[in-house]
Amino acid sequence: MTTTPEIKDESFPTHPPLAGVLGWPIAHSRSPLVHGHWLDRYGLEGGYIPLPVHPDNLENVLKTLPKMGFVGVNVTIPHKEAALRLSDSLTDRAALIKAANTLIFREDGKIHADNTDGYGFLANLLQEAPDWRPDQGPAAVIGAGGAARAVVASLLESGVPELRITNRTRLRADQIRAEFGAKVVVYDWAQAGNMLEGAHTAINATSMGMTGKAPLPVPLDALAPETLVTDLVYTPLMTDFLKEAQQRGCMVVDGLGMLLHQAVPGFERWFGQRPEVDEELRQAVL
Ligand code: ATR
Repeated sequence: MTTTPEIKDESFPTHPPLAGVLGWPIAHSRSPLVHGHWLDRYGLEGGYIPLPVHPDNLENVLKTLPKMGFVGVNVTIPHKEAALRLSDSLTDRAALIKAANTLIFREDGKIHADNTDGYGFLANLLQEAPDWRPDQGPAAVIGAGGAARAVVASLLESGVPELRITNRTRLRADQIRAEFGAKVVVYDWAQAGNMLEGAHTAINATSMGMTGKAPLPVPLDALAPETLVTDLVYTPLMTDFLKEAQQRGCMVVDGLGMLLHQAVPGFERWFGQRPEVDEELRQAVL
């Protein structure tokens, strides 16, 4: 993280603070609903808007937004990696994940990048399953894309003793092992079901099971009722993966909470109020 002192650029408007989410396309994003709900609930001045930005324009847009009173933005597909490259400083977790989802525009015009996806993942599980602890046994992660990297980083940081991972494209799982170290054990995609045996936590971090996509092809026979099971997919809220795990006696946590919790650090930084993730917010977003 940088320690350069911030010298305020007096040409930047500061009130009311504006934030938003940059993506291409962006119409599907639920972030404006989440932040809008909190702005209303806490009676705060400011705004949060969806900003459709083509990849060719990302650099220019990021330079311009602070001059218009924006204090930061969330970034989503396809900008998460590019946003990291265009930032002046970054948190350790953003560096590990190699992607940013939250940008803070400092008063001197510099961009600070963070990634709160792993934080959101853990905060969701800790809220929904208060007795669960990541360090109590092996975790089994299905998938090795951007979202999986955030999950892996957060689990390792919280002391998971063993992190099993599998991915259709094995190379991406091997890369995660090479970067994140010896606690990571790669399973072949064809053997994915085996890694669930004795797992304390099981996570679908692929996009499979999402409405309109093929279901997750991993057999769940080895899943024991003690395993906490979660899915990053939240459309539908109860994926087939979660339904089957529940039928096997597992506690399950849906993925909507991760989306809500990952928004907390950005909102707090931009609008000065730490917001609550509760049932009222879930209903507003649903
Ligand atoms: P995200 O940032 O949401 O993680 P991503 O980086 O594109 O998006 O990763 C998507 C994940 O879903 C990957 O693990 C991907 O597997 P590959 O690395 O082999 O592409 C997985 N995935 C998507 N569609 C899949 C399918 N039909 N079968 C198996 N895995 C799939």
